[in-house]
Amino acid sequence: MAKRSRLVGFGGFLPERVVTNEELATRLATSDEWIRTRTGITQRHVAGPEDTATSMGTRAAQRALEYAGLSAQDIDVVLVATSTPDQAFPATAVRIQAALGMTHGFGFDIAAACSGFIFALATADSFIRSGQVRNALVIGSEVYSRIVDWEDRGTCVLFGDGAGAVVVSATDESDSHGILSTHLHSDGTTGDLLYVDGAVGQPEKSGHLKMSGRDVFRHAVAKLSSSVDEALNAEGLTYADVDWLVPHQANIRIIEGVAKKLSLPAERVVVTVDRHANTSAASIPLALDEAVRDGRIQKGELVLMEALGGGLTWGSVLVRL
Ligand code: UT7
Repeated sequence: MAKRSRLVGFGGFLPERVVTNEELATRLATSDEWIRTRTGITQRHVAGPEDTATSMGTRAAQRALEYAGLSAQDIDVVLVATSTPDQAFPATAVRIQAALGMTHGFGFDIAAACSGFIFALATADSFIRSGQVRNALVIGSEVYSRIVDWEDRGTCVLFGDGAGAVVVSATDESDSHGILSTHLHSDGTTGDLLYVDGAVGQPEKSGHLKMSGRDVFRHAVAKLSSSVDEALNAEGLTYADVDWLVPHQANIRIIEGVAKKLSLPAERVVVTVDRHANTSAASIPLALDEAVRDGRIQKGELVLMEALGGGLTWGSVLVRL
């Protein structure tokens, strides 16, 4: 029988240290007022020396497994969305596999910057629909504090560290719950709008994140808006059918723009950007974890997730929880 992917476990991890806007304002030419009014951010979590994409992703994964009532032995694939892996290889996914005590199945990383979780979830969905995988762990884990230039006020104030995870399990297609559709896009001609300047292959470069903020903002509003239409049109659904928007958390103004298009009231939009800032590929699973655990998102509700990031990459996942 044809399969559908159901989200059955949710987990998150945030490093202990919290850095407020006020603290940043003591060492940069910025202010709490500027950061809050332009982005909605008031604070971010920043990794300690021991926190890495592997360690944080493992903690989030363990919590998601516990929520699902499954063990690592039940998992067939580990997919990790990250732009800040501990090492060029082995993949963070493989390190997390080992940390979870798995020597079966397979794992690999997905590099799609802030859209990474959407790309990873869509990949898990394809494996499940094809019958190749029964249970998947999909993780977003990021330590952007290690790639931002802490002297560049235009970028460093925007990001935070953390990890989020979901367990995705195969169910029969007749089940009304599960992923309804996924839509992925990338356009490398816009690659210079948001990028990391160098990596292991170009060690002479700075290794810092660079962004043309205004241009990315413009693309985000337009592309996320068309993504929302694409996702709903594919299923013959309308804005009124959406119960929850769980967007990538880059900027409250972008989030509110998409919510307004959907005519969704603020209480139907999951927002963490105020407390987490932009945790890139971790932002959606962290938001999902929070809203499922505190009882806001209920079983059977229609959830629209969307993201845009460096690449540019963008996309959406529509799921009935
Ligand atoms: O997750 C991946 C996707 N990323 C995004 O979606 C980010 C999209 N872009 C944005 O969210 C916004 O463009 C930003 C929040 C990054 C910037 O907001 P903006 O309203 O576009 O500001 P701006 O870059 O046009 O800068 C306005 C002014 C500039 O000063 P002048 O040239 O007008 O004198 C900046 O130098 O604000 C200045 N500025 C700051 N001032 C205080 C830039 N950063 C800061 C700062 N504190 N931290």
